[in-house]
Amino acid sequence: PRSTRLGPGGELLFAGAPVSHLAARFGTPAYLLDEDEVRQNARAYRKALPDAEVAYASKALCTRAVLRWVAEEGLSLDTCSAGEIAVARSIGFPAERILLHGNAKTPEDLKAALSYGVRRIVVDSLDEIEQLGALATGAQQVLIRVTPDVAAGTHAAITTGTEGQKFGFSLREEVRDNLGRAVSAVLAQPGLRLAGLHCHIGSQVSRVDFYELAARKMIGVLVALRESNGVTLRELDLGGGHAVRYLPGDTGFDIDGYVRRLRVALAYECTSHGFPLPKLTIEPGRAIVGPAGITVYRVCAVKRGSRTFVAVDGGMSDNARPALYGAAYTARLIGRRSRSARRPMTVVGRHCESGDVLADGLSLPDDVRPGDLLAVPCTGAYHHSLASNYNLVGRPPVVGVSRGTATLLVRRETEEDLLKRDLG
Ligand code: LLP
Repeated sequence: PRSTRLGPGGELLFAGAPVSHLAARFGTPAYLLDEDEVRQNARAYRKALPDAEVAYASKALCTRAVLRWVAEEGLSLDTCSAGEIAVARSIGFPAERILLHGNAKTPEDLKAALSYGVRRIVVDSLDEIEQLGALATGAQQVLIRVTPDVAAGTHAAITTGTEGQKFGFSLREEVRDNLGRAVSAVLAQPGLRLAGLHCHIGSQVSRVDFYELAARKMIGVLVALRESNGVTLRELDLGGGHAVRYLPGDTGFDIDGYVRRLRVALAYECTSHGFPLPKLTIEPGRAIVGPAGITVYRVCAVKRGSRTFVAVDGGMSDNARPALYGAAYTARLIGRRSRSARRPMTVVGRHCESGDVLADGLSLPDDVRPGDLLAVPCTGAYHHSLASNYNLVGRPPVVGVSRGTATLLVRRETEEDLLKRDLG
């Protein structure tokens, strides 16, 4: 994070607080989150896109405190389950600023959204349109999710805008459940009001030209719908997916470039078709919280064999991303200064799988030993939210830090928590 600094004696200062003190106070592994950086990231989006709605994708990290911060910074919220709506509801996140997503919304998800008054539901199948139509009584606003057929150049598991993956309605006529049918189905439901279209091309996307392409295509779709169905839809949601830098050499996301290209592309496409400029929504998740978080681990053992393994007290249960997406991370020794030579080492977790690798080929001091602390940067997004209890390990706490003061936001999961659900 921007506020991480090296202090005296190899200490790492995170948002003004010495990390070794936080590790002693809250235990390890622990997720640390810089509140001010989350707020700054939220503000940067608002500033770059003052006319657009910026919805924080809470799947990245959904805790009450985080939702409160983004609400205070004027963001909207993209939710994808009754559970996320429950967290939003528990802090009074304004329902008129919430969207609900999902390709398989359960009746509970839909009911949670309707009962809280979630303003927009993004529908993703003809079945859902029918189910929602049967439940909705008022004029529930709906966006239809479209498959724009744009390959976003990211990992296959998080590519979501191409033909043939499960999200969105196809633009192809020959496909049975295509966009035209979805539009007619929504228009036929008296309880629904079609507000606009949505697309999300993928996640950890660093190239802005893919967004520009998606935006152009979506305006084309809006224009085509005006001709075919006689509807002029006023809202366009371009999803999230903006990349962050996990490693020093990674390409980040150029928000200003993104905004510039979007503006030009949308203005051009709309003007040339005589179509009104739609109200824009975007849904960044990772870019708001990812870089604002670090994870602190304690070294349990160092094994010097054909490779040197540094085994820590966490792993794939608190960071599933290397196993799921082959994601690469870096880590550094903190809390003491070492003068030893550095050697390539592999930081591994505690879980019973050889794929439980947190960082490979990392250069760490030769005298790294049990009890040392390691910090892994850029772990604010899709770490806590993707965490599991694999091997019956409790999930780590989330600690918010602001200007040197730490607050426990989510406590560590205990053995008692883990046993509670097992009814024997
Ligand atoms: N909008 C929709 C409809 C989404 O499905 C997602 C992410 C987002 C917005 C936010 O994307 P973001 O800005 O956070 O990239 N677990 C994976 C990422 C999965 C993303 C799922 N959808 C990972 O750790 O890389």
